[in-house]
Parts: sequence; C-alpha cells; structure tokens
Amino acid sequence: MSTGPAFPRAAEIEHSLERLAELCEDPTALVYERLFELQPEMKPYFWRDTNDAIKGEMLSRTFGAILDFVGERRYADHMIGTEMVTHEGYDVPREVFVTFFDVVRDAVRVGLGSDWTSDLESAWQELIAEIYRFANLTPRSDVTNAFHQPRMEAFRRGEPIS
Ligand code: HEM
Repeated sequence: MSTGPAFPRAAEIEHSLERLAELCEDPTALVYERLFELQPEMKPYFWRDTNDAIKGEMLSRTFGAILDFVGERRYADHMIGTEMVTHEGYDVPREVFVTFFDVVRDAVRVGLGSDWTSDLESAWQELIAEIYRFANLTPRSDVTNAFHQPRMEAFRRGEPIS
C-alpha cells in the first residue's frame, strides 16, 4: 500500500530545493550569511569550524532532514528533537536552533530569485509551522519538569510515592 508524503505540500518544498541545487552550486555562504545577519551572536560558536566543513555538514544534514520530514518522515522528526538537545550542549538555545529553518527558507528564496513564487512562500510557511510544532513537543532539559516537580517535592517531604 502506498501512502502519500508526510507533508501535503512536499512536492513544492522538494522542487524549491532541487531548483536551488541547479541555480546555486554551493548555498553554504548564502545560508550562513543570513544566519549571522539574524543571529550574529551565534558566530563565535563555530570557532572549531576553520574551513567551513562543519557549516557545510550541518546544512547538508538540515536539507536531508527537511526532505525526509516532508516525504517519508522516517527519522527527521526525531532527529530535530535530538539535535535540539545536542545543540543545547553547544550553548545554542532551542529557540535559536529552530530559527535555522527560517534561515534556510530565506536563503532558498534569495537563491531562487525570480523562480520564487507566492505558492512556495506559503508552502515553506506551513512547513516551518509544522516543524515548530514538533520542536515544541521535545521535552526540555533546561527547566524544571512541571510533571515531576510536585512528586519530587512530596518525596523530599517524606511522603509516599504516588
Ligand atoms: C541557528 C541554529 C543553529 C546554530 C546556531 C547551530 C550551531 C551549530 C554549531 C556551533 C555546531 C558546531 C559544533 C562543533 O563545534 O562541533 C553545529 C553542528 C551541527 N549542527 Fe547545528 N546549529 C543550528 C541549527 C541546526 C539544525 C536545525 C540542524 C539540523 C536539523 C543542525 C545540525 C547540526 C549537525 C548535524 C552538526 C554537526 C556537524 C558536524 O560536526 O559534522 N544544526 N551546529
């Protein structure tokens, strides 16, 4: 039995990324220029990346994740959650992490130039909203867990575990 793509407007997203690959041999500079325009304070965190290899790898993994997220969705939803937690270890807050998808959209828009359409704009907007919904479901490691907090307080008071 064949099922459709996970994201109903997958074809538009795929088309825009294919077109970007045709028009722009290496979009890495375009993407990171936009990232550092929006999030200049993230620049020093790439201190290890002296030859842009990490930036290129991160971008290619993000393209892969977007294509899987819109298509078969075999891993991308989980990957976005686990990378979000990993990036907290790099001191990249999760609120900043998710903005990379807006950054990629902005770079695709610039890269496509006159090939960018209002349909592509709305498809990307819907995609980003769906990614944000998934990201919001990822448990936080940087705040007290509201579910466990009352149990821990009761435990510390010596009350039986309920
Ligand atoms: C604005 C948002 C983001 C910032 C500022 C950021 C920052 C970074 C930094 C500083 C590193 C290098 C850490 C090191 O020194 O090894 C890194 C690595 C990486 N990032 Fe991001 N990241 C962002 C979003 C994302 C997203 C959305 C994804 C994918 C869904 C992603 C995937 C990766 C991967 C796979 C690596 C490892 C690359 C490698 O070392 O081979 N990042 N990121």
